[in-house]
Amino acid sequence: MISLNIEKTLGFISKENVFAYEAQVKAAQEALENGTGKGNDFLGWLHLPSSITKEHLADLKATAQTLRDNCEVVVVAGIGGSYLGARAVIEALSNSFTWLQDKKTAPVILYAGHNIGEDYLYELTEYLKDKKFGVINISKSGTTTETALAFRLLKKQCEDQRGKDMAKKVIVAITDAKKGAARVTADNEGYKSFIIPDNVGGRFSVLTPVGLLPIAIAGFDIEKLVAGAVAMEKACGKDVPFAENPAAIYAATRNELYKNGKKIEILVNYNPKLHYVSEWWKQLYGESEGKENKGIFPAAVDFSTDLHSMGQWIQEGERTIYETVISVEKTQYSLQVPSDEANLDGLNFLAGKHVDEVNKMAELGTQLAHVDGGVPNMRIVIPALNEESIGGLLYFFEIACGISGYILGVNPFNQPGVEAYKKNMFALLNKPGYEEESKAIQARL
Ligand code: PA5
Repeated sequence: MISLNIEKTLGFISKENVFAYEAQVKAAQEALENGTGKGNDFLGWLHLPSSITKEHLADLKATAQTLRDNCEVVVVAGIGGSYLGARAVIEALSNSFTWLQDKKTAPVILYAGHNIGEDYLYELTEYLKDKKFGVINISKSGTTTETALAFRLLKKQCEDQRGKDMAKKVIVAITDAKKGAARVTADNEGYKSFIIPDNVGGRFSVLTPVGLLPIAIAGFDIEKLVAGAVAMEKACGKDVPFAENPAAIYAATRNELYKNGKKIEILVNYNPKLHYVSEWWKQLYGESEGKENKGIFPAAVDFSTDLHSMGQWIQEGERTIYETVISVEKTQYSLQVPSDEANLDGLNFLAGKHVDEVNKMAELGTQLAHVDGGVPNMRIVIPALNEESIGGLLYFFEIACGISGYILGVNPFNQPGVEAYKKNMFALLNKPGYEEESKAIQARL
């Protein structure tokens, strides 16, 4: 189970003021439970973990097995909420060098449809040329340009390389039940497909097939992942007292920090495998809270790597930041620092220590230095990088985000701002239906 410690924020804000949010948190929790708040048609994620059935997981696992049996590589095509959750979990749980290993126990998972890089797509299609590969086409709307463009290329390549019959077996669609081009293609081609529920938005969809299928293909235990989320659903439930509910405390603390001028939250990890958990978290909080000219800016760093770059800014830059550290209690493997007779690097004082002991002291030393430098610090501790912990962590952030967004007074479940660039891009590309916008935008250039 994860734990949250806000002690090192208390020189900057008071515990009394954090606890003064209790009534607002309660109101937010009730609005979520009763569906009476803003964006109430997008609350399907709230009790999603506990409503996932064994049959659903079995269906996902069976499809995952088909791809595992028939593919060396599986490309996950999706963007934003249709890709970050899967990548966050897969990278958190995978061996860092897995894709370089000769003997693989699962298909290599690659990603596409999350950028419009010509070179990226060229290099990907080149790499796939002699590979038995499959594709998961993930798009709730079924019309996202980045994903549709990548899928068009990958579908053709898969059919050309592997034949239409095999392509049908190794291409899976995860999309809306009825609408969108991805649904139409899946139905026309006879692909196996999974539905993204109407009431679950992209950034809250990691525990739907959007996340679960790629995670299962990568060889991880989706039952344990869901079990971790179910445990957190209980631990953060609306009847859990405020002081014992980590999501309530996190939501209250960040809002109190924001009120006190701390406009930027930096999510910190000390384990490179958590990089994409931070990317997922940035989307979750950025897209949920950044609207109506308000919202904490979510940033992220990987320490100790970024202590050698962003560390300077964090220690001495403008004092508008606070940090939330994700600390992993136990490593998966054990590695001790060897002794060296010559000791030219002067590191014999570390001989016999586990590498993680050094990492933990970097963490503690940094926390003290940053607090001394005027940066409030929260700490989330997870027991280990395993399915249960990650499942719990994801749900913790989701429920805290819902509560926090309601405290802020915004609709945490829409994203009207992401349409602006699309409208301009379509106008610039002369998309049919955008004739007026095309004229208007040309006049501005
Ligand atoms: O959270 C969101 O809603 C977005 O990030 C979407 O997931 C993203 O834009 C992809 O959309 P779609 O799944 O419709 O292709």
